[in-house]
Amino acid sequence: MNLLTWGRTPWGEWILTHISWDLLWASLFAGVAFLLAHASYMLLSAHRKRDAAETDRLEAARADLPPRIARHSVAARLFHWVMAAAMFTLLFTAFLPIAGIKFPWVQWHWMAGLVLTASILFHIVHATVWMDFWSIWVGPKDMPELKAELMRELGHEVDGPKPGKYPLGNRLYHLVIVAAALVVVTSGLLMMVRVRTPFFTRNPYMLSDMKWGLTYVAHGLAGVALVGLVIAHVYFAVRPEKWWITKSMILGWITRRQYLEHHDPQRWVAR
Ligand code: HEM
Repeated sequence: MNLLTWGRTPWGEWILTHISWDLLWASLFAGVAFLLAHASYMLLSAHRKRDAAETDRLEAARADLPPRIARHSVAARLFHWVMAAAMFTLLFTAFLPIAGIKFPWVQWHWMAGLVLTASILFHIVHATVWMDFWSIWVGPKDMPELKAELMRELGHEVDGPKPGKYPLGNRLYHLVIVAAALVVVTSGLLMMVRVRTPFFTRNPYMLSDMKWGLTYVAHGLAGVALVGLVIAHVYFAVRPEKWWITKSMILGWITRRQYLEHHDPQRWVAR
């Protein structure tokens, strides 16, 4: 399988044009293979959850908490759904033509790109000023939580830390999608210089052929990675045991019981 596609200038020189679109099918395949592997694993997994009696005890001890615990503000939910709409528009406008469904996609694509860029800028400001900025990041400090989660996965009852606001898997996912989104947005904004838009006169000569080639390769690589990442995200969102999280992204709250069952109240202090 070729990873890159090369073209020829009128002078016969080879230039890098973009990634090979075989990588799109590879990412699609990886996404579907992951969900099949995970779904099969979940049928066999011994995953240890807090049992009902234990959660009953915790609930009785924390009757001071409101019955509904706020998880996502209106602004956070709006960001999520605007970003999701932009992301799906970007994926479909980029990859349907590559899969053979031709239509004038470029203008829809960059318009959705600008919506995605604006929503990410909003999210960065919102998360820095109004949210608990560090609650979503992972690092070496999370090793005890990783160990405890692995032990629970093997069916053991352990005292180790439970997640704060975001489960470990969600925090790792966020890290990867941040990297892919930053690459796709910065390269996409640069690529707007090459296409016709109402904002400025297009200038395909702003960068050398090699630099344009590398920009298109970076955009393509991050773009195909997002195919697999989005498949994995949607898969987890629709799994029945995760509906309580998905519902909270619509309604904004989780129940007191779900809060005590899945979180460490010391690491995510409910208000
Ligand atoms: C989910 C995110 C995105 C995906 C999956 C995606 C995917 C793609 C793909 C596969 C191409 C074709 C590249 C090629 O021919 O080598 C492309 C082109 C392009 N994208 Fe994106 N993109 C995304 C986000 C963005 C963003 C955020 C912007 C702008 C802000 C943007 C602007 C452009 C532009 C201007 C082109 C060039 C069209 C051309 O030269 O004909 N894209 N994109």
